[in-house]
Amino acid sequence: MAGNIKVVVCKSSDEVAQKAAGMFIEQVRNKPTSVLGFATGSTPEKTYAEIAKLSKAEKVSFAKTISFNLDEYWGLDGDHDQSYRFFMNDKLFKSIDIRPWNAHVLNGKAKFPEVECRAYEDQILSVGGVDLWVLGIGNNGHIAFNEPGSPVDSRTRLVSLTQSTIDANSDGRFFKDPAEVPRCALSTGIGTIRDARRLVLLATGAKKADAIAKAVDGAFTPDVPASLLQDHPDCTFILDADAASKLKK
Ligand code: PGA
Repeated sequence: MAGNIKVVVCKSSDEVAQKAAGMFIEQVRNKPTSVLGFATGSTPEKTYAEIAKLSKAEKVSFAKTISFNLDEYWGLDGDHDQSYRFFMNDKLFKSIDIRPWNAHVLNGKAKFPEVECRAYEDQILSVGGVDLWVLGIGNNGHIAFNEPGSPVDSRTRLVSLTQSTIDANSDGRFFKDPAEVPRCALSTGIGTIRDARRLVLLATGAKKADAIAKAVDGAFTPDVPASLLQDHPDCTFILDADAASKLKK
């Protein structure tokens, strides 16, 4: 292994979700005022369902937590059904007691993107930084919308999506047609993500195996944005067997 990344391999995507949700529940139980980081995409959906279930069953309240999401499509309103604000409200926020004004998602319709991005960074700083941030990974190794080539010290900004990401997000799960996918997004940077005290990256399925192997066992390089987590002091990858299948033994 090239860096400090801890790898946990699970038997199924259900087990990935249980482990990841368990980390969030423990985090909030131990520190009710936790600052949490969330991600969108197919991978964390089960984790969010599990967090909602455990929060009720174990009476762990999110009322004092604050959250920040990784990214948002540029040009989409929060009530567009493919916006990440809509996704988060639907998959998680409506099912836990986090206060809506504490659940931050970048505004894809902001008039001045630079101002929106700077304010987002300031908000994260003003609450003391993120305690635990969950991430997904793209087939091309991206984290958030930090596509290959994104600098290690990048901050929240307006970015362009690669064709591989546009295709991955219009394969029938989200957008029906690549032409509908916004070409740009507001995304937290690699530096923003690396500032979180604890990171957990989730990946399931064979399509992610190459990106995972490069991120964990390959070089520390902006060509594989997730590899830039290798020197993070507390970063865990929770994988199913397929996503882990190309890792060095
Ligand atoms: P996915 O996306 O969970 O839908 O595979 C992950 C990502 O692109 O970060």
